[in-house]
Amino acid sequence: MDISIEIDPDYYDLQRDDYADTDFASCTSDEQQFESLEAGHLLCILLDAHTENPLFQAPVKDPKQILDIGTGRGNWAIDTADMFPNTTVRGVDLFPPPGDWLPPNCIMEVDDVLQEWTWRQPFDLIHILQLIGAFTPVEWDGLFSQCYNMSTDSSMVQFTEAVFRAGQEWDHPLDTLDTMRAAMEKAGFVDIHEKRYRWPVGPWARDPTLKEAGRLHYHQWTAGMEGWGMYLLTKFGVPTPWTKEEVQVLLAGVRKELQNPHVHMWQYARRVWGRKPMAEEDVKVKSEAVVIGDSGI
Ligand SMILES: C[S@@+](CC[C@H](N)C(=O)[O-])C[C@H]1O[C@@H](n2cnc3c(N)ncnc32)[C@H](O)[C@@H]1O
Repeated sequence: MDISIEIDPDYYDLQRDDYADTDFASCTSDEQQFESLEAGHLLCILLDAHTENPLFQAPVKDPKQILDIGTGRGNWAIDTADMFPNTTVRGVDLFPPPGDWLPPNCIMEVDDVLQEWTWRQPFDLIHILQLIGAFTPVEWDGLFSQCYNMSTDSSMVQFTEAVFRAGQEWDHPLDTLDTMRAAMEKAGFVDIHEKRYRWPVGPWARDPTLKEAGRLHYHQWTAGMEGWGMYLLTKFGVPTPWTKEEVQVLLAGVRKELQNPHVHMWQYARRVWGRKPMAEEDVKVKSEAVVIGDSGI
């Protein structure tokens, strides 16, 4: 794509008045900074004015939740809230915005986006404008990771991630499935085998046995998830414990997804087994260890 800009042949004849509304001399006051930022915002809109939506190009048609990071005076957040009256647009900044008027669907929050995010709901769109130089490379990486991790609107994924984080916080991690084989090896078990499964949740599988397994697994989830989630999230929710109501709202979303015939959920499962070494194997292993020790002396 050619993005070069042709120069206006009359440019050199322009009067200096053409720059009258732009002050290059000093940018010291907040007001001047805000003016500069507003000019930048308008510039972006102007250059995309011929498009269907000059405020953003991401193909998000019916957003419910939008976040504007480092919103400043909130120019973009306010315009976007006006353009999408049924959307909640949140602007977040270290400082409160100077103005006091906001569209009813625009919320301004004071927070540091480099800290762990406390928003529970995912965003359909996360926007960043004119934050050049705001962060170190490591901070940018962390920020984009947090944006990425907020991008799912699946209640099941949110639930699973939240309970895993809570399990870690409690120091009772929920990744036993992945760690048990190594733990058995460490304890001395030998001849270790494993079998992996995909357990469907709900009767969506064609195979009759998997269909029945899916029914049982659905029952296991719907009967168990409140117990699993409520304790973990209200006691060890990250970064702060959840309220009961917050857990219930998320569980209602999980239930809805589990009942949606277009959602074909499954869970990974693993069976691991091993045995203690026979007496003679044990002796051999021990004597080998001695030989190795001896040879090192
Ligand atoms: C140059 S301004 C851009 C404002 C706005 N995006 C715009 O285009 O008009 C950068 C903004 O980022 C905010 N900011 C910088 N670090 C931040 C952080 N860690 N968390 C939240 N906001 C931050 C600053 O307070 C400032 O208002």
